[in-house]
Amino acid sequence: MSQDLHGRPHSGFGFGAGAGGGTFAGRVGVEIVGSGSYLPQRVLTNQDLEKVMDTSDEWIVQRTGIRERHICDAANGEATKRMGAHALRRALSDAKIGPDDLDLMICATMTGEMNCPATANLIGHEVGVKRAGSFDLNAACSGFVYAVNLAHDLIRGGAYRTVAVMGVDCLSTLMDYSTAGRGTAIIFGDAAGCAIFRATPDTRKGILAQAMHADGEGWKEIFVPRTMHDFPAGQACDPSKLGKVQMNGAAVFKFAVSTFSNLIEETLEKGNVKPEEVDMFICHQSNMRILKSARERFGLSEDKLYINIDRVGNTVGASVPLCLDELRKAGKVREGQKVMFLAFGGGLTWASSLWQL
Ligand code: UT7
Repeated sequence: MSQDLHGRPHSGFGFGAGAGGGTFAGRVGVEIVGSGSYLPQRVLTNQDLEKVMDTSDEWIVQRTGIRERHICDAANGEATKRMGAHALRRALSDAKIGPDDLDLMICATMTGEMNCPATANLIGHEVGVKRAGSFDLNAACSGFVYAVNLAHDLIRGGAYRTVAVMGVDCLSTLMDYSTAGRGTAIIFGDAAGCAIFRATPDTRKGILAQAMHADGEGWKEIFVPRTMHDFPAGQACDPSKLGKVQMNGAAVFKFAVSTFSNLIEETLEKGNVKPEEVDMFICHQSNMRILKSARERFGLSEDKLYINIDRVGNTVGASVPLCLDELRKAGKVREGQKVMFLAFGGGLTWASSLWQL
């Protein structure tokens, strides 16, 4: 077996320079070799919310399907970096590789720790990653699926061999837990998820079809104002809203229901795959009613469209990788299957990724 530029052995199925831009001689497949996730210890139930705002467990369950969510211990500095580090460590251990085996890390987040550096770098530092490239990507709730498509094509194109994709979000820091914020604060929870993608000589494995879309006109349906200039025309500029998520829930709901169906149709058509051939739809958990409407529209059985929103709420960029990790650990997503990742959210953005595992 020969060695790459860093003195590491490589498998000899056409890999060239290794990390940071070498090229592989032949066409390669892409496989998921590990996953990990993390939920903060603190659980915020609907009953807890009843104590701080005018809401009820009954309203929340009926409108969203959510019973509880996990939130970070902000007072002790728990946020995106720490959650991401837990998820990355667990994914590396699941893949049976170390930090030095990574060539690239992408962190999909809308709650980065600082403007500079990228949170991916901070997470890498926590975990002992010393040489892999790393950067953040912000496509809100669609971020992880965007990053998966990017990682796949970078590996398939031959420049990188092993890529960690994380989806980490800490929305609790952007919530108004009072009656004024009840339309938004009840749905979001904090979490991190990570999947490790690697080149394989089995060229059947990888993405069969993908989509990434955005419509910037819809930015004002979900945004986090930083200054008084950030409010859309016609909306009152309220200083108490700075730094808090502003969401037009009803508009996003309408967008999500139609987008979900169109996106599934578009992706199946591109991949020339029938809905019944897909073993699992791994969807962004935004609202139980949105997920159920997709199930009904495509006649999917309960075991084909995974739902965990009741336990974790809407965890934004972490939503899809958290589902993936839970499904892999339960043996419900495995080699040989076809699975579709789907997400939509702020931006407005929406994205899909249909895989042959
Ligand atoms: O992840 C990415 C993007 N986000 C989403 O996908 C979220 C999509 N949207 C939703 O899930 C839903 O729109 C929400 C769950 C956020 C809100 O549910 P809704 O059925 O669309 O409620 P609404 O905002 O239309 O409000 C209906 C009523 C209002 O009262 P009035 O004006 O009819 O008297 C609200 O004030 O419900 C009231 N309300 C609440 N009542 C009790 C809003 N939030 C609450 C609450 N508890 N937490």
